[in-house]
Amino acid sequence: MISIDRTSAIPLSNQIETQLRQLVRDRIFAAGVKLPSIRQLASQLAVSTNTVVVAYDRLVAAGLIDSHGTSGFFACASKDSPSMPDAVALEAGEEQEPIWLAQQANDQRSGVLLASSGALPPTWLQDAVPASVVQRALAHSSAGMASRCPPQGLQPLREQIAMLMHSAGIAVDAGHLLTCFGGTHAIDLICRSFLQAGDTVLVEDPGYFLMFSRLLQDGIRLIPIRRGPDGLDLDELELACQEYRPRLLFMQTALHSPTGWSSSSANLHRVLNVAKQYGVLIAEDDVHGHFLPGHSTRLAALSGFDGVIYYSSFCKVLSPALRMGYIAAAPHHLKILMRTKIHSVMTTPALNEYVLLEVLKAGNWRKHLERLQRKIIQARTTCITQLSEAGMAFEHLGEVGLFLWGTIPDGVDMQLLLQDAYRNKILLVGGATFSAQQHHDRYLRFNVAFSQQTRLSEYLQQRFTTIAQAQQVGAKGFSLIN
Ligand SMILES: Cc1ncc(COP(=O)(O)O)c(C=O)c1O
Repeated sequence: MISIDRTSAIPLSNQIETQLRQLVRDRIFAAGVKLPSIRQLASQLAVSTNTVVVAYDRLVAAGLIDSHGTSGFFACASKDSPSMPDAVALEAGEEQEPIWLAQQANDQRSGVLLASSGALPPTWLQDAVPASVVQRALAHSSAGMASRCPPQGLQPLREQIAMLMHSAGIAVDAGHLLTCFGGTHAIDLICRSFLQAGDTVLVEDPGYFLMFSRLLQDGIRLIPIRRGPDGLDLDELELACQEYRPRLLFMQTALHSPTGWSSSSANLHRVLNVAKQYGVLIAEDDVHGHFLPGHSTRLAALSGFDGVIYYSSFCKVLSPALRMGYIAAAPHHLKILMRTKIHSVMTTPALNEYVLLEVLKAGNWRKHLERLQRKIIQARTTCITQLSEAGMAFEHLGEVGLFLWGTIPDGVDMQLLLQDAYRNKILLVGGATFSAQQHHDRYLRFNVAFSQQTRLSEYLQQRFTTIAQAQQVGAKGFSLIN
């Protein structure tokens, strides 16, 4: 019933396991039927008993067979059942909903072009953390897989991050850093530490949708402040501070999502002054800042962390698998954040921190970033040409970064476009999703790494042309969906 191939590179235990799986699935070993004993099968196949034990252990772990002590191993009832809808997956039709979008970004359906995604395609990052680095990290860890991670983060890792921030123009001491699970976790820790239901928080409009959703979940009142190519609208900021006495302002300084714009130094100086005058704490999001070559002003650098909590992440630029990020803040703020981290997750995984430490120590980080930045600039050029030819308009183009923020032609129904694109396996996110007040509904965010695929520009061109033609002939009741 089972045959093994000794010339094959596949280990003998795997060969036995695979064939037994099939026999159970095909009900040759129907539920309740006894399998040969370990000794019997080992002698029949002329392999060691240990080889059979390995195969049987895996089948037990998979729930295909069961061990009845000294009576032996028995086949279990097949678990194959008609596929059930995934209870926690959100439904199609929620395409523009923040949680749905976050779910798609991390649970990608094959064939869907994530044209508005906030992340890089896996192929752009897959060499960034070689397997040898993971092995080295484990070897250099204090106790291998028994290692613990101090809740503030490994000291040598925080020193590496401090150096990295220093080279980006932000002077910080390793003692003022806290590691976390990426930007999402940093936002969560800040919310839990400094906000409560009923508080008022200023957010950028447009801005980062998942952060809006996180704040709303806690019953926080959001006051949107217009974000322009130069930074926040200072008059709106001041008026909002006077009128609402907000507790906190969340803002991105460099390569803002969704627009790709960076704030000018002059704008940031004014933002800091206003925030200081009204006692507003600033949470500075620099998750996209790694994509910006060279130095650029950050609030953290200008303020020396006085009234500013800064956070960034390695999830986008290095490894979504590691999910590591960091927060820098003044000691009295950092202490509160660390208490919250301990309450919510105790600590971050030592293995991830050792891996990140190895990557940063190896010194390839800068080269990796430069490679990514070059690829992004190339992709931007391609996208701008293709998408403009397709009919998109880009009023203010940044020079670098992942995002393009453009408007669709007049007469195109945004909702129909978003739905139709999704049916054609293109995920586009409309501007209203990035607005706490549903503004910017003529805008789309494009991620240049994905959007350079001609499939997208051809799709948009075809749709925009059809609509324009229909408008010319005055077609009534025209539907976008042909
Ligand atoms: C502006 C901004 N902040 C925070 C995050 C979350 O970052 P992470 O993936 O590190 O959790 C994102 C992710 O898209 C983002 O765009």
